[in-house]
Amino acid sequence: MVCLGNICRSPLAEGILKAKVDNSKYTVDSAGTGGWHAGESPDPRSIDVAQKNGLDITDQRARKFSTYDFERYDHIFVMDNSNYRDVVRLANDDSEKAKVQLILNEIFPGENVDVPDPYYGGASGFNSVYEMLDQACDSIASRL
Ligand code: 4NP
Repeated sequence: MVCLGNICRSPLAEGILKAKVDNSKYTVDSAGTGGWHAGESPDPRSIDVAQKNGLDITDQRARKFSTYDFERYDHIFVMDNSNYRDVVRLANDDSEKAKVQLILNEIFPGENVDVPDPYYGGASGFNSVYEMLDQACDSIASRL
């Protein structure tokens, strides 16, 4: 799960998908295309909305996406079109590029819709991001 800062959207996506899959079979992780927040906990607003929905994401720490992630993971879900461009630019070949998908294409196939960045808004933005990611992760989990 990849966003820009790895403190708002992708930590939620990581927590939500982890809760929906068999963790002995699948490794779910998240990262940011930028490293400014590396080492930080998720944004308190993401922690709150997760908690309201029964998820504890407080153990997560932000990190920067690395080219090693292409080798380590089979699927790379990005939150928006800007993340898509940044991650695809780092791919070594077409097979790595093919691992990268916009997460909302899971529920709106081919529409290339962004998960809006809630960082500069209020709690309602985090609630709607949670709902979108929950639906997308239901689809991912059933496909896996
Ligand atoms: P995220 O949100 O990409 O969903 O983690 C952001 C977090 C921090 C910043 C931007 C977006 N920032 O500019 O610091």
